[in-house]
Amino acid sequence: MAEQRTSIHGQWSNRTVFILAATGSAVGLGNIWKFPYITGENGGGTFVLVYLLCIALIGLPIMMAEIMLGRRGKRSPINTMRALAKDEHRNPGWAWLGWMGVVAGFLILSYYSVIAGWALSYIFRTAGGLFLGATADGVNSIFTDLVSDPERLLAWHTVFMVMTMAVVARGVKNGIEKAVTVLMPLLFGLLIVVVIYAMTTGYFMDGVRFLFTPGTIDSKGVLIAMGHAFFTLSLGMGAIMVYGSYLTSDHSIVQASIMIALADTVVALLAGLAIFPIVFANGLEPSAGPGLIFQTLPIAFGHMQGGTLVGVVFFSLLVFAAWTSAISLIEPAVAYLVENKGLSRIQAAEWMGVVTWLVGLGTVFSFNIWKDKTLTIPFLFEKFTFFDTLDYLTANVMLPLGGLFIALFSAWVMHQQSTREEMATYPLVYTIWRFLVRFITPLAVIVVFLKAVGAI
Ligand code: TRP
Repeated sequence: MAEQRTSIHGQWSNRTVFILAATGSAVGLGNIWKFPYITGENGGGTFVLVYLLCIALIGLPIMMAEIMLGRRGKRSPINTMRALAKDEHRNPGWAWLGWMGVVAGFLILSYYSVIAGWALSYIFRTAGGLFLGATADGVNSIFTDLVSDPERLLAWHTVFMVMTMAVVARGVKNGIEKAVTVLMPLLFGLLIVVVIYAMTTGYFMDGVRFLFTPGTIDSKGVLIAMGHAFFTLSLGMGAIMVYGSYLTSDHSIVQASIMIALADTVVALLAGLAIFPIVFANGLEPSAGPGLIFQTLPIAFGHMQGGTLVGVVFFSLLVFAAWTSAISLIEPAVAYLVENKGLSRIQAAEWMGVVTWLVGLGTVFSFNIWKDKTLTIPFLFEKFTFFDTLDYLTANVMLPLGGLFIALFSAWVMHQQSTREEMATYPLVYTIWRFLVRFITPLAVIVVFLKAVGAI
């Protein structure tokens, strides 16, 4: 019976720790690096609106489903899917969904680590006073210098991978429980400091208007907004599922999910409010791409009182946020290797670390020696670098597909009795959740996909 299972990997000390760990997973580069630049590339207000809708109607119900599945299965996503399918007398082949998640997680980590490496190197650039009084052009050329140097990118990518694997090897619980408690609130505080600086630029309202005034969006923009809702909440690949498997049964899944999604959304919006006023105040382009935060925030740190200190702390916290996310990207794979291949956590982390590091080389080179080597994805996009392709395929295709099948599994494959028991919430809340994962979420994902490839 599902109730008697326990996880061989241990469990969270208490509910707060689970919420912190899941928030640590959700809040990361996605909020502070990716959200602003894709909002900039997709025209602002409408994109933000679609993103918020996706969080509420797709992300939140799927987050509840993932935690529910993980907590009931109590194993790595691959084995959880297999065990739950068996419990329900269904085809154990559902384990493939766990497999797809493992692949997506390690592909995402391969480039995530390279970007986190940028943030690492910015700690030292800021500390060295490089940005004091800097102009937009100066900041821009510092960024270009960094990314056009494969050796430096490689070194920082390596440092970040080692950091990630060191925590994963120790077991998620011992590694992050304590650190998350202190550092997440600090990150929040520092973001507010930058927002306050943004208010003094005289362009704050331009930023607000850009973020919240609806304009136009195309169907690919909608797909990107939906993909980002999955990415930012860490959904669709089993990260939240595996964290749910370390959770005991006496906690409210619904309440926890709402808190995690809310915290994640607030951090993303704060990042937007911090960055866009600086963009407009300095005549920069909102659509500058993946370098956006690295080309804007240093201007703020170079001009505000105590900016060097604020900047150093800010980039350190950004690295920390990325770290707590990176751990969750690889945890499903590591948990699986421990469960099924008899590896120790340390061996599993080493193996995954090496493979992920290697794939990360593709992203390192995407910004310099392979800059002009592009691929084309039929129906979706033309001329993508290795990095763009990985990012696009994982966030906008694999995660939504994973989420779609997680919703379908929870609502159509599992018996209602089982999900009702595991969700353990008010009848009305359960009914709404089930209606969402049964109809609304899958339909929304399918429609967005079909629109993006031009099939409807
Ligand atoms: N949510 C994290 C961020 O916004 C990234 C992340 C961590 C993630 N775990 C994930 C994305 C699992 C997709 C799936 O930075």
